[in-house]
Amino acid sequence: MDKNLRDDIFQHAKEWILKAGETIRTKINDPLIIDTKSNPKDLVTTMDKETEYFLATNIKKTYPHHLLFSEEGYGDDVTSLDGVVWIVDPIDGTMNFVQQKRNFAISIGIFQEGIGEIGFVYDVMADILYSAKRNEGAYKNNVKLPPLKPELVLDEAMLGFNHHWLCENSVMDERTMQQLVKKIRGSRTYGSAALKLAYVAEGIIDGYLTMNLAPWDIAGGIILAKEVGAVTTNLDGAPVTLLTNESTITCHPAIQQEIIHDYLQKGKK
Ligand code: IPD
Ligand code: CA
Ligand code: CA
Repeated sequence: MDKNLRDDIFQHAKEWILKAGETIRTKINDPLIIDTKSNPKDLVTTMDKETEYFLATNIKKTYPHHLLFSEEGYGDDVTSLDGVVWIVDPIDGTMNFVQQKRNFAISIGIFQEGIGEIGFVYDVMADILYSAKRNEGAYKNNVKLPPLKPELVLDEAMLGFNHHWLCENSVMDERTMQQLVKKIRGSRTYGSAALKLAYVAEGIIDGYLTMNLAPWDIAGGIILAKEVGAVTTNLDGAPVTLLTNESTITCHPAIQQEIIHDYLQKGKK
């Protein structure tokens, strides 16, 4: 992507994401209408929809030729990453939003011809904006994040994933994941995929595994993580498509092969 266009898009997206976050903070104690989607634990609120509507309206007005791939229905029917595609999750961590009123994020990944050009993850209540432009590094607010530490062994790694990996599930033999948990230094779960990927970019966790998540859950975060040297693949080690739900691993490159070969490949169903 041409640098001027990328800078222009970055400035607009940053302005909109900060504005959307400000609106959410202002309304955080207002009564919520909470609905469920695919199952009783899959929540959506009026705030998810209003936030997406705000972002969609601005994107479409300013960049009518760009496509929007988003969760709550204001986007396009996206079947390829040709052209410029915005992949947007208006609130990632809706359950945290509803129950904790914190630990949720707005996530935006902007791609051109399938290449991640701009990524944002906005921790709304903490007012922390993680951002990145391709080959220009990742930032936490205005501070550039350092590259990942040069070396890491799996025994000393801290990984993020949710507890479904350790219960019987359709993706992975849970006993294999239990072995992985015993091997590593620690595991963490936060309830927002986007935030976990931002934490990989920040170097405060060394990797993050997703089980069957949608493109909008991870699009912004994997662009951030790449800028500091983290790598993202599916559980076979192949590139993610960002067009359908997938299980993925984003991590420090030093532990990637060992996790994939010794654990994910062995336990995959
Ligand atoms: C959810 C969050 C959560 C993950 C869920 C996602 P949502 O997104 O990323 O961390 O475990 O599977 O659906 O629904 O809050 O946007
Ligand atoms: Ca999400
Ligand atoms: Ca969401």
